Amino acid sequence: MNTRVRGVRARQILDSRGRPTVEADVELVDGNVGRASVPSGASAGSAEAHELRDADPAVYEGLGVLQAVANVNGEIAKALSARDALAQREIDALLIDLDGTPRLSRLGANAVLAVSLATARAAAASRHQALYERIGELAGVDGPAMPLPMVNILSGGLHASRGMDAQDFLAIPARAASIADAVHTIARVRAAASDEAQDRGLPTLLADEGGLSPGLESGRAALQMMLRSIERAGLRPGEDVLIAIDVAATSLQQPDGRYRLAREGRVLDGDEMIEMMAGWVRDFPVASIEDGLGEDDWDAWRRLTSRLGGAVQLVGDDLFTTHPKRLARGLRESVANGVLVKANQNGTLTGTIDLIAQARTAGYTTIVSARSGETEDTFVADLAVGTAAGQIKIGSLRTSSTVSKYNQLLRIDEACGAPYAGVAILTGRKSR
Ligand code: PGA
Ligand code: ZN
Repeated sequence: MNTRVRGVRARQILDSRGRPTVEADVELVDGNVGRASVPSGASAGSAEAHELRDADPAVYEGLGVLQAVANVNGEIAKALSARDALAQREIDALLIDLDGTPRLSRLGANAVLAVSLATARAAAASRHQALYERIGELAGVDGPAMPLPMVNILSGGLHASRGMDAQDFLAIPARAASIADAVHTIARVRAAASDEAQDRGLPTLLADEGGLSPGLESGRAALQMMLRSIERAGLRPGEDVLIAIDVAATSLQQPDGRYRLAREGRVLDGDEMIEMMAGWVRDFPVASIEDGLGEDDWDAWRRLTSRLGGAVQLVGDDLFTTHPKRLARGLRESVANGVLVKANQNGTLTGTIDLIAQARTAGYTTIVSARSGETEDTFVADLAVGTAAGQIKIGSLRTSSTVSKYNQLLRIDEACGAPYAGVAILTGRKSR
């Protein structure tokens, strides 16, 4: 076993929206190879690590990543040559140093993350470890845990041509005793939602993460359809299945900071948004709300947290962008009580692992998440299990780019039989 890096090589591949992304291979002297590709968001937060795109309008509408690929094959490959892949922290620090900018905008966070993740895979292969085991070692957690999933059922926002104002309505299995049981429960809800849409003459075409895009006129109408779908599946809303919402409110914000609900024909200020969400929580079994307000609306976020934080999980995605300083501010100011964790918002594997630890120490929940533009890479499943993050959000139970991650969870469960986090992980779960 010689875990020194022999070579690093990247290429441009396509993601689930048919857009270019970076895939990297890290080869060790002992012949083991780790491969990883990076996803891409549609409703990206402005503080995210920088996704380097070529901006050549003649090629993939300006979305090519050939410069990021060249950065891996050139500068990064040279810097990593003969480095020990087991020294993941040093490698991640070296990549950050080499880039030299706060948001990895010179080399590209897509270039840096692909190499960071591929390094972990190569090290795991060399030591005959499963990836989640390698991640667990880096995270220093007691042991792996199977995460509670929140699963996309209905979509709007930037994931479905703005067919609804809020971006995603998700189902959380509340009674399942294992990940396999959880997946089965949600598969029933997803199928019932399709039948429900069909009966109502609503579209059954897929949104970006494999959910439905019924184009309903309001959040309440979408919540009604969630209730109906859960019941239609023979399950009890609030007991067997809870509801989560990703408002993705940053993408609703106008230049004056207010929130435009285009489908409802209303413009709300922060407090009116809070009122609307309080109404949802009062009338529906909503257990989690993500990005209920915009990424820089810290004052309103504080009020939202004191109003609803005792009753539901309030998750910061664009708000925190998996960034330790933004999370530290949230902790200091009692904003939100949960964090969405996206490795490509952060830029490196150990940076992402450390962010999870920072949140956990403060008592915030952590939800490891995929992006709306994904590849067949299932790294996110191992990341959630290995760090014992507790929750995972990886899209609906349709299309290979999302289903592959659920399948990886099922395989990991079979291999290690780690305890299933279950619904107890949710802070302040609301019961009806
Ligand atoms: P994104 O969406 O990947 O398009 O940012 C996912 C989310 O908002 O959680
Ligand atoms: Zn989100």
